[in-house]
Amino acid sequence: MKIFRIFSSDAHDMAIDLGTVNTVVYVRDKGIVLNEPSVVAMETRDGIRRVKVVGNEAKLMMGKTPDNIQTIRPLRDGVIADIEVAEQMIKHFIDKALGGHTRLPRRYNVVICVPSSSTMVERRAIGDAASNAGAAQVQLIEEPLAAAIGAGMPVTKPIGAMVVDIGGGTTEVAVLSLSGIAYSNSVRIGGDKMDDAITSYIRRKHNLMIGEMTAERVKMSIGSAVPPDGTGTIISVKGRDLVNGRPAEIKISEADIAEALAEPVAQIVSAVMTALEQTPPELSADIIDEGITITGGGALLGQIDKAIAEATGLPVKIAENALICVAMGAGQAFQDPAYQGVLIAA
Ligand SMILES: Nc1ncnc2c1ncn2[C@@H]1O[C@H](COP(=O)(O)OP(=O)(O)OP(=O)(O)O)[C@@H](O)[C@H]1O
Ligand SMILES: [Mg+2]
Repeated sequence: MKIFRIFSSDAHDMAIDLGTVNTVVYVRDKGIVLNEPSVVAMETRDGIRRVKVVGNEAKLMMGKTPDNIQTIRPLRDGVIADIEVAEQMIKHFIDKALGGHTRLPRRYNVVICVPSSSTMVERRAIGDAASNAGAAQVQLIEEPLAAAIGAGMPVTKPIGAMVVDIGGGTTEVAVLSLSGIAYSNSVRIGGDKMDDAITSYIRRKHNLMIGEMTAERVKMSIGSAVPPDGTGTIISVKGRDLVNGRPAEIKISEADIAEALAEPVAQIVSAVMTALEQTPPELSADIIDEGITITGGGALLGQIDKAIAEATGLPVKIAENALICVAMGAGQAFQDPAYQGVLIAA
């Protein structure tokens, strides 16, 4: 007797960019269907710990939770740091991307983006997490390749192209040619380190303790990789006064924040310089013509393109859709046969 397993019939192969800060999901023939913070709020009730909310709702709770709720970011530096919570998060996002629970089991394949610097052990952990979440087949793609495909760069041609993906946890610099990575270099510096730099600057200079979310908001509103002429825009920032313990508000300028960000920015620029020094000469010659493309949320930091252009003397372009181009590129990689070679078995 033959047994047929009945699966729901929607098309639903998907690509997941499981980022340190944001998770983005691309579903076949639909495009990007989900883009939410990689945050999980876990609640402990009657001694049992379970997921309360995930993504946008969990991020809103960060820094504001009572004792029995904990907000967790299960990825650090681009790789899984808390496997149990990461698995629950992936499962939640896959269900949501597929349109919620259904009674029929669904069969779907997943492509997961991994940092090019990740180890075999880290890759296996991510692959296993996706299998445990229910994926039938799991394949991997290296993030710089996905970023470059998503940014519309000529990755399949014998032309050297440089992509710099500045994420929340890591910055990956890669030189691509013929659908492969000819050189890559990664540093554990990204948006998170910029937020930390702002927090410690404000603590040091103003004796004011600010939260993680406030630091990120300051970076997004007035952050700049190059100091402005004069003080630039001035905004007010609220936090807790470290001297008297009371809530307090201070004024901070674009010039102050540029000073705070100088070190992480210098480390990103130096990763790019190192990559250029190590690139084989034929590919270097191509990069002069093609320039450098920057992707990831960090590409949106004010003047970061200018800082990299000044240091390298090369043209620098910010990718369109910088925040979603890794997931878009991974999606294109499984939909378009021209890119088949870039997927790796998990
Ligand atoms: N306008 C902006 N200016 C500066 N930084 C920004 C801006 N918008 C987003 N970011 C930062 O970009 C980072 C998130 O980028 P992205 O989503 O590419 O990271 P990720 O893929 O989750 O991380 P990783 O690739 O390191 O695992 C955050 O640190 C966020 O604060
Ligand atoms: Mg990323």
